[in-house]
Amino acid sequence: MEYDRMLAELFGEEDRAREMATRLAELAKRSPESAAAEKSSLLAFIRGPMERHFHYEESALFPQLEGRGLGAEVQVAVKQHDALRGLADKLAGATAGEDVRGLIFDIARLMLHHTNFEGDYIYPELTHADWRELMKETVEQKQTANP
Ligand SMILES: [Fe+2]
Repeated sequence: MEYDRMLAELFGEEDRAREMATRLAELAKRSPESAAAEKSSLLAFIRGPMERHFHYEESALFPQLEGRGLGAEVQVAVKQHDALRGLADKLAGATAGEDVRGLIFDIARLMLHHTNFEGDYIYPELTHADWRELMKETVEQKQTANP
Protein backbone atom coordinates (compact mmCIF):
# COMPACT_ATOMS: atom_id res chain seq x y z
CA MET A 1 0.00 0.00 0.00
CA GLU A 2 1.19 3.46 -1.02
CA TYR A 3 0.88 5.08 2.43
CA ASP A 4 2.68 2.26 4.19
CA ARG A 5 5.50 2.60 1.69
CA MET A 6 5.70 6.36 2.40
CA LEU A 7 5.76 5.67 6.11
CA ALA A 8 8.50 3.06 5.77
CA GLU A 9 10.51 5.55 3.74
CA LEU A 10 10.11 8.26 6.36
CA PHE A 11 11.20 5.99 9.19
CA GLY A 12 14.03 4.66 7.04
CA GLU A 13 15.32 8.22 6.69
CA GLU A 14 15.26 8.61 10.47
CA ASP A 15 17.28 5.40 10.82
CA ARG A 16 19.83 6.64 8.31
CA ALA A 17 20.23 9.90 10.24
CA ARG A 18 20.84 7.89 13.41
CA GLU A 19 23.49 5.74 11.69
CA MET A 20 25.12 8.84 10.25
CA ALA A 21 25.26 10.47 13.70
CA THR A 22 26.97 7.42 15.18
CA ARG A 23 29.47 7.36 12.32
CA LEU A 24 30.22 11.08 12.78
CA ALA A 25 30.72 10.79 16.52
CA GLU A 26 33.35 8.09 15.77
CA LEU A 27 34.91 10.23 13.09
CA ALA A 28 35.27 13.16 15.48
CA LYS A 29 37.61 10.98 17.58
CA ARG A 30 39.99 10.31 14.67
CA SER A 31 42.75 12.60 13.41
CA PRO A 32 41.96 16.17 12.30
CA GLU A 33 43.00 15.12 8.77
CA SER A 34 40.61 12.19 8.51
CA ALA A 35 37.77 14.31 9.94
CA ALA A 36 38.50 17.07 7.42
CA ALA A 37 38.53 14.51 4.61
CA GLU A 38 34.85 13.74 5.31
CA LYS A 39 33.76 17.37 5.19
CA SER A 40 32.38 17.41 1.66
CA SER A 41 30.52 14.08 1.94
CA LEU A 42 29.00 15.20 5.23
CA LEU A 43 27.87 18.48 3.69
CA ALA A 44 26.44 16.59 0.73
CA PHE A 45 24.39 14.44 3.13
CA ILE A 46 23.12 17.43 5.14
CA ARG A 47 22.27 19.53 2.12
CA GLY A 48 20.92 16.62 0.08
CA PRO A 49 18.90 13.83 1.72
CA MET A 50 18.69 15.51 5.11
CA GLU A 51 17.50 18.84 3.74
CA ARG A 52 14.88 17.03 1.64
CA HIS A 53 13.69 15.26 4.78
CA PHE A 54 13.54 18.54 6.74
CA HIS A 55 11.72 20.23 3.92
CA TYR A 56 9.17 17.44 3.69
CA GLU A 57 8.56 17.58 7.44
CA GLU A 58 8.31 21.37 7.50
CA SER A 59 6.09 21.75 4.46
CA ALA A 60 3.87 18.69 4.63
CA LEU A 61 4.05 16.95 7.97
CA PHE A 62 4.45 19.64 10.61
CA PRO A 63 1.41 21.71 9.62
CA GLN A 64 -0.70 18.56 10.01
CA LEU A 65 0.88 17.78 13.37
CA GLU A 66 0.20 21.34 14.55
CA GLY A 67 -3.41 20.76 13.66
CA ARG A 68 -3.32 17.74 15.95
CA GLY A 69 -2.17 19.76 18.96
CA LEU A 70 1.57 19.18 18.63
CA GLY A 71 2.49 22.84 18.01
CA ALA A 72 5.01 23.12 20.85
CA GLU A 73 6.84 19.93 19.82
CA VAL A 74 6.90 21.05 16.19
CA GLN A 75 8.45 24.36 17.25
CA VAL A 76 11.30 22.56 19.00
CA ALA A 77 11.87 20.30 15.98
CA VAL A 78 11.98 23.27 13.59
CA LYS A 79 14.54 25.01 15.82
CA GLN A 80 16.68 21.88 15.72
CA HIS A 81 16.44 21.76 11.91
CA ASP A 82 17.61 25.39 11.75
CA ALA A 83 20.44 24.75 14.19
CA LEU A 84 21.62 21.83 12.05
CA ARG A 85 21.51 24.02 8.95
CA GLY A 86 23.54 26.65 10.81
CA LEU A 87 26.17 24.08 11.82
CA ALA A 88 26.36 22.89 8.20
CA ASP A 89 27.01 26.48 7.08
CA LYS A 90 29.75 26.78 9.69
CA LEU A 91 31.32 23.56 8.44
CA ALA A 92 31.09 24.76 4.85
CA GLY A 93 32.88 27.94 5.86
CA ALA A 94 35.73 26.13 7.64
CA THR A 95 39.09 26.88 6.06
CA ALA A 96 41.49 24.20 4.82
CA GLY A 97 43.63 22.95 7.68
CA GLU A 98 41.06 23.95 10.31
CA ASP A 99 40.25 21.29 12.90
CA VAL A 100 36.57 20.54 12.27
CA ARG A 101 36.27 17.65 14.75
CA GLY A 102 34.43 19.73 17.35
CA LEU A 103 31.98 20.91 14.74
CA ILE A 104 31.45 17.39 13.41
CA PHE A 105 30.84 16.18 16.94
CA ASP A 106 28.28 18.97 17.51
CA ILE A 107 26.50 17.99 14.31
CA ALA A 108 26.46 14.32 15.34
CA ARG A 109 25.10 15.17 18.78
CA LEU A 110 22.35 17.43 17.46
CA MET A 111 21.39 14.96 14.73
CA LEU A 112 21.00 12.21 17.33
CA HIS A 113 19.22 14.49 19.77
CA HIS A 114 16.83 15.55 17.02
CA THR A 115 15.95 12.06 15.81
CA ASN A 116 15.47 11.00 19.43
CA PHE A 117 13.27 14.02 20.09
CA GLU A 118 11.03 13.24 17.15
CA GLY A 119 11.05 9.56 18.02
CA ASP A 120 10.21 10.19 21.69
CA TYR A 121 7.90 13.19 21.62
CA ILE A 122 6.31 13.46 18.21
CA TYR A 123 6.03 10.13 16.49
CA PRO A 124 4.59 8.13 19.42
CA GLU A 125 1.75 10.64 19.73
CA LEU A 126 0.33 9.13 16.58
CA THR A 127 -0.97 5.61 16.10
CA HIS A 128 -0.29 3.66 12.92
CA ALA A 129 -3.79 4.57 11.76
CA ASP A 130 -3.10 8.28 12.42
CA TRP A 131 0.08 8.04 10.41
CA ARG A 132 -1.66 6.50 7.45
CA GLU A 133 -4.34 9.17 7.65
CA LEU A 134 -1.63 11.85 7.80
CA MET A 135 0.15 10.44 4.75
CA LYS A 136 -3.15 10.34 2.92
CA GLU A 137 -3.91 13.97 3.77
CA THR A 138 -0.39 14.95 2.77
CA VAL A 139 -0.73 13.29 -0.63
CA GLU A 140 -4.16 14.81 -1.20
CA GLN A 141 -2.88 18.25 -0.26
CA LYS A 142 0.03 17.90 -2.67
CA GLN A 143 -2.37 16.95 -5.43
CA THR A 144 -4.54 20.01 -4.75
CA ALA A 145 -1.46 22.21 -4.60
CA ASN A 146 -0.11 21.00 -7.98
CA PRO A 147 -3.01 19.65 -10.00
FE1 LIG B 1 13.10 16.38 11.66
